[in-house]
Amino acid sequence: MGDIINTIKERRSVRKYKNIDVPKEKIKRILEAANWAPSNANSQPWKFYVLKKEYLNKVSNVFYKWSKEYIPKADYIPENKKNDMIEYSKNFGGAQNLIVVTYQAYESDKHRTEESLMASCAAVQNICLAAKEEDLGTVWITGHVTHDPETRNILNLNNNEKIAAIIPVGYPAINPPAPPREDSNLVDKVKWMGF
Ligand SMILES: Cc1cc2nc3c(=O)[nH]c(=O)nc-3n(C[C@H](O)[C@H](O)[C@H](O)COP(=O)(O)O)c2cc1C
Repeated sequence: MGDIINTIKERRSVRKYKNIDVPKEKIKRILEAANWAPSNANSQPWKFYVLKKEYLNKVSNVFYKWSKEYIPKADYIPENKKNDMIEYSKNFGGAQNLIVVTYQAYESDKHRTEESLMASCAAVQNICLAAKEEDLGTVWITGHVTHDPETRNILNLNNNEKIAAIIPVGYPAINPPAPPREDSNLVDKVKWMGF
């Protein structure tokens, strides 16, 4: 068991993975950590879908189909990054598994839906940290692929089940540098009150 602060600081978003199978036992331990996340009234509004092989390929196809249309036209993405991003979308950087985290939405209760998403995000972070402790890389994927009806069809989600994250999982093939944190001394971001 690692030191939690080190694990938090050393976790990186990994976008390239080795072609090595991830033992199911490791994924189970990661999901157990996810299930220990806090939640509103302990409602545990999450579900976890663990995808491999043809299911992973199907979601990759959704991602790739969108990326190769969208990325070339996106002005805000630097030209020299576009090819790598499209390549990445073909198979989520060669991840062996995807963990999809969903949350329950309530049509008539915006606040409860918001809390449900918050709780599921806590579960997502637990997944990323627990994976780091298992020597596995992850990245929290959002955006179009998490909303595309085709993704929802592959997972057979009901109308009130939304996706908080798609998390590729695998042994890292790269060791990405830490993107710097702004205001690392927490001068501007923190307001100490009553001290
Ligand atoms: C809510 C959320 C959404 C994100 N969506 C994406 C995404 O769609 N694609 C991606 O490659 N990374 C995504 N990321 C990862 C961020 O780019 C990454 O966390 C950030 O650049 C900091 O890098 P680090 O995770 O290595 O510290 C997302 C992260 C969060 C928390």
